Amino acid sequence: MAAAISGVGLSWQSKLSQRRRPSHPSPRSTSHRGHGVSPQIKMTVSVEKTKKNFTLQKSEEIFKAAKDLMPGGVNSPVRAFNSVGGQPIVIDSVKGSHMWDVDGNEYIDYVGSWGPAIIGHADDKVLAALADTMKKGTSFGAPCILENKLAEMVISAVPSIEMVRFVNSGTEACMGVLRLARAFTGRQKIIKFEGCYHGHADPFLVKAGSGVATLGLPDSPGVPKAATFDTLTSPLNDLSTVENLFETHKGEIAALILEPVVGNSGFIPPTPDFLNSLRRITKENGALLIFDEVMTGFRLAYGGAQEYFGITPDLTTLGKIIGGGLPVGAYGGRREIMEMVAPAGPMYQAGTLSGNPLAMTAGIHTLERLKEPGSYEYLSKITAELIQGILEAGKSAGHEMCGGYISGMFGFFFTEGPVYSFGDAKMSDTAKFARFHRGMLEEGVYFAPSQFEAGFTSLAHTSEDIQRTIAAAEKVFRQI
Ligand SMILES: Cc1ncc(COP(=O)(O)O)c(C=O)c1O
Repeated sequence: MAAAISGVGLSWQSKLSQRRRPSHPSPRSTSHRGHGVSPQIKMTVSVEKTKKNFTLQKSEEIFKAAKDLMPGGVNSPVRAFNSVGGQPIVIDSVKGSHMWDVDGNEYIDYVGSWGPAIIGHADDKVLAALADTMKKGTSFGAPCILENKLAEMVISAVPSIEMVRFVNSGTEACMGVLRLARAFTGRQKIIKFEGCYHGHADPFLVKAGSGVATLGLPDSPGVPKAATFDTLTSPLNDLSTVENLFETHKGEIAALILEPVVGNSGFIPPTPDFLNSLRRITKENGALLIFDEVMTGFRLAYGGAQEYFGITPDLTTLGKIIGGGLPVGAYGGRREIMEMVAPAGPMYQAGTLSGNPLAMTAGIHTLERLKEPGSYEYLSKITAELIQGILEAGKSAGHEMCGGYISGMFGFFFTEGPVYSFGDAKMSDTAKFARFHRGMLEEGVYFAPSQFEAGFTSLAHTSEDIQRTIAAAEKVFRQI
C-alpha cells in the first residue's frame, strides 16, 4: 500500500510514525464544513479596491440584492464566504481552468464547482453532446438508453459496483445508501467519522464527540433527536474507537460510512492500513462498509479511492464528476444488495428527474475524456507541482504549513501537522487562511472559501496556471 499512497501528504507523510495525537476537543460542531454553517471571520480589509484594478462592485450589488431574496444570499452556505469573510464573488462564466466574475475579474479556479469540473469547465465536447441531446428534449421521466450507457461505464470502472441507481445529488445518494444498508442488514445503527460530510440528510447531521461511543446529537435545529439516535461517531483514523463501537453495539451496526480520503475537513488521507482494517472489522461484524466517493469517485483514479487503495467496499456513493457539471448522484454495490431497491426489491426510493438525459450525457462524455490514457498521471503531475510550490513558498515566508495531494485532489493547512483527523485540522490558523484566501483572490486565484475544504485541479489546468498560482502565493505569503 505504501506505493499506492506515494502522492500523499508531502509534508506530513514522513512524520506519520512519530505523530502526536492531540486530544480531541470535546463535542465539536460539524459547522466547519463548507456545506454546513461556517464560522464567521471578521475581515478588516475593505471589500473592494484593496488592490489596484481589483473591484468587486458589481458582485457586491448583486449579492446585496440576493441577500434579500435567498437565505444568506446563496443556495448553498459556503458560497457566502462566511468562513473567510469579505465579499463573495458572483460568477459570470467559466471555461477550462478559469472563471470570470461579473466585474470582469479572471481567476484560476481550484474549486471546479466543488469537484465536477475535472476535465475543465464547459468542455467543448460535453457542450456539443448536450446540445445534441437537448434537441430531443430535456426530461423524459421514462427509461432512456443514456442511463444504460452511463450505468455500464460506472459499473465497469468502480470495483464494488455491480448495479447502480442514479439520483440527483450526493445527499440523495447517501440517504438512499443508508436506507439500503439498514434494509439489507435489518440493523439500525451506523458509524460515521468526525469531519466526514455525507450530505445534509438528518442522520448524518450529527455533532461529533470525543467519547468512545458518542451517541448522535443533532447538529442543526430541526433535526429530530430520533433521526440521529442511531448515528455513532468516531474520530477519523482511530481504529480503537471503531473497535470499541462494534464491541459495545454488537450485532446492531448496519454500516460504517466514510470518505476514504476526506475532503470536507480539508484534505485528510487515511493512515496506512486504516481502510484495510475497516474492511476487516466490518466483515467480522456482519456490517456493510460504505465508501462515500461523491468527491473521490473518478477523481483519485478512474475507479475512485477503492481502485487507488485496492480496497473494495460493499456499497459506494457517487456524485459530482459522474454528472459532468449537471445534477447527479448515484449509489451502487453488490447485486444481491442492490436488488433490494424498488422495484426489484422492497426498499423504496424514487426520483422525478433521476436518470435525466442531459445529466447522463454530461456524465458519459466527462468519463470518456477521463478514460483517455494519461489523465490521472497528468492530474498527479500538476497537482504535485502546485502543492509543492505552495508549501515551499509558505514555509520560506516563515509560516507553519503542511499539506498533501492525491491525483487531482489537494489541501494545505496553516499548522505544522501532520493532519489525520478533524481535531488535527482545527489546529490550523483559520484567520491566516482567510487572509491568504483574500490575497489570492486579488491575485486572480480562486481557492475554496474555507480552510476545511479540499482543492481540485483539472485536465484543463496548465503548468502556466500552476506557476502563476505559486508566484501569487509567494507574494501573498509575504503579506499575511
Ligand atoms: C463526500 C460527500 N458526500 C456527499 C456530499 C453531498 O453531495 P451534494 O452536495 O451533491 O448533495 C458531498 C458534497 O460535497 C460530499 O463531498
